Amino acid sequence: MIILNSKLQLSAYTDNVRNQHNSIGFVPTMGALHSGHISLVDMAKYQCDKVVCSIFVNPTQFNDLNDLKNYPRTIEVDCQMLEKAGCDAVFIPDVQEMYSTQELELKKQGVEDKSWTEGKDIDFGIIGRVMEGAHRPGHFNGVAQIVSKLFRLVKPDKAYFGQKDFQQLAIIRSMVKQLDMKVEIISCPIIREKNGLAMSSRNERLTPLERERAAIISQTLFQVKELQKQKNITELKDFAENFIKTEPLIQLEYFEISNSETLEPVINYPQANKSAVACIAVKLGGVRLIDNILLY
Ligand code: PAF
Repeated sequence: MIILNSKLQLSAYTDNVRNQHNSIGFVPTMGALHSGHISLVDMAKYQCDKVVCSIFVNPTQFNDLNDLKNYPRTIEVDCQMLEKAGCDAVFIPDVQEMYSTQELELKKQGVEDKSWTEGKDIDFGIIGRVMEGAHRPGHFNGVAQIVSKLFRLVKPDKAYFGQKDFQQLAIIRSMVKQLDMKVEIISCPIIREKNGLAMSSRNERLTPLERERAAIISQTLFQVKELQKQKNITELKDFAENFIKTEPLIQLEYFEISNSETLEPVINYPQANKSAVACIAVKLGGVRLIDNILLY
């Protein structure tokens, strides 16, 4: 596996791959890799000739400085895992490589100059305003900013994202459409720990007890799916909110049932011919966790 640290090295590598008529599957990550990430690499390997990953903890998508500071960084183990999974090249830039000094300086001063880079100023409409968008101001524009930069550099045929970040997937799809990018976005299933907890790099920050108790997050979703035919929307939401409250270590941030395409809250459920997604966000011991399940 080749390790690339500069944008120049990355473009030279991907240009060369393309000149040899090979397709590129791209897996962007923030590192602290787990089996969920490796399942994306596996899918990319299956569908494309070459697999490129990136590991970059992107400061512009963190609206909470503590979260950025505490985000797990395990670069050596990450590289071993990627190599073992058969990844061909990994891009590991530092912050200065991805953002100009001017961008970083203005960010530090809290100045939002909308003209910096594409992605930063895209209006995602309702998709960007509900749930994660409402609770993490600026997060999705930060994601779009870095992912558009990475797509411009890698020019992948396909890019792979986990369905755990359901809303992020909708944002990336919208960004690709709005910026007329040629990449195909592939959504991969959520990988869960034995107790049902959705795999996430943030799980590393939970104590063993918290990790055990976190099982109630997916249990809530599984129960809601079981009950979807028997209860109306208000009853389902009440059920979920009361069920999760039985775990005193957890604070519920939101539980929402949304249209899986538009992400608008579903009011009449079930809607004819429309699928819905139940999404949840909680705090557990200072760690923010999200999960979701498709209904219908
Ligand atoms: O899902 C993530 O890990 C990040 O949001 C991404 C897509 C790598 C952008 O930094």
